[in-house]
Amino acid sequence: MTNTGTSIILISGDTRVSAAVSRALNADPHIALKQLDATLARLNGTAVQLVQEHDLVLFHTDSVRENDISTIQRIREGLGETAILIALTGGDTSLDEAQELIKAGVNDVVSEHLSETEIKAVVDRWVRVIKPEPSHGDGSSRKGQVISVAQSRGGIGATTLAVNLADRLLDRTGFLKKTTQNRVVLVDLDIQFGTVASFLDIDSSDLLYRLAIDGEDPDAVLIQQSLSALDSGLSVLTAPSRMAPLEALSKCQIATLLSLLQENYDYVVVSLPRSLVAWIAQVLECSDKLLVVTDSSVPAIRQTRRLIDVYSEDHLNLPIEIVIGHEAKPMFLAAHHKEAVKVLDKVFQHWIPYDPVAAREAVDRGQPLSLAAPKSRLAKSINQLGKETLIEMKSEKQTKTIH
Ligand SMILES: Nc1ncnc2c1ncn2[C@@H]1O[C@H](COP(=O)(O)OP(=O)(O)O)[C@@H](O)[C@H]1O
Ligand SMILES: [Mg+2]
Repeated sequence: MTNTGTSIILISGDTRVSAAVSRALNADPHIALKQLDATLARLNGTAVQLVQEHDLVLFHTDSVRENDISTIQRIREGLGETAILIALTGGDTSLDEAQELIKAGVNDVVSEHLSETEIKAVVDRWVRVIKPEPSHGDGSSRKGQVISVAQSRGGIGATTLAVNLADRLLDRTGFLKKTTQNRVVLVDLDIQFGTVASFLDIDSSDLLYRLAIDGEDPDAVLIQQSLSALDSGLSVLTAPSRMAPLEALSKCQIATLLSLLQENYDYVVVSLPRSLVAWIAQVLECSDKLLVVTDSSVPAIRQTRRLIDVYSEDHLNLPIEIVIGHEAKPMFLAAHHKEAVKVLDKVFQHWIPYDPVAAREAVDRGQPLSLAAPKSRLAKSINQLGKETLIEMKSEKQTKTIH
């Protein structure tokens, strides 16, 4: 592996695929791309050796044959431990074939029909796994910031906030707002009842279920394989579709998971479960900010008070902000608001109006509000919250770097 750039080799006998990959990657000065005009099954020993000298191997395969599998195993054997193997396959590759490829040592299986931007995005994600951004020379790290979202009661819009806050933190600019300024990952740690996957219309990943069952620490490659990548640029780790025992995750697993994500992303948005399990303490330990979504009714405020007491017990310095859901910011606080502010000893920093039409549109379409209902009051309020978060977190980061 070179220190400065990433060496990538593409094995493909299909000129159309080769041309697309080369257009996708050649403009990046940090990538050195070599192309091997060959099919996998025909690689001789010398070619396999040459392939093994690269950080990342992309290969094209039409239909997975036995010869391919044995060549993949041979390549994997001599490939560096951290090197990545990605298969570009035809649209008719079955799930079984994809599984077979993974079993043989492939890290990712993607469609040969991806656009150039999508190919680049897949490669970039894996390059970040091989070469996480280094720490600054002054010792301060570039670790991403963690924002956790909790709720005082079900149905108040915590998941809606987590999903759309994560989307906003991408901070898109440029033509058609296609360029993202931040790398953001959304993690649904509401492992039993999390709904992020259906909010974004993506398949559930089993990672959190497997961690809960196996008790093992996740590694960077496993995490990367388990993330869903949206067209918007947002990465998502969903809750599993199978019911996992909530208590089974360990603090250590959570610490490893979040720390590895922080290495690769600027912002990690965590959607928390309502139950108070031991590993939540670890999430809070890693968090730079906690948003608690509640309504302003007496029972919900009492519950919020209890949550804040528990959450801040061991994390005195954790900034906790209150988000009032289902209520637009009033011109003046009503008497019951003032009472609630006293009970919580915290201002109501954010307000998210009741907007069932926009909320429903987003859920039905399986899209964030920025696509489903960008002009709605709901979208605007979460945009505002996201904007304030970005400003605050950027200045915090600068302060940390200076000191
Ligand atoms: N501000 C809002 N106004 C109206 N409906 C909302 C609002 N926020 C969320 N919803 C809807 O309410 C339901 C529960 O929202 P969700 O975000 O899953 O809440 P929670 O995670 O707090 O349980 C969803 O159908 C969602 O679309
Ligand atoms: Mg929820």
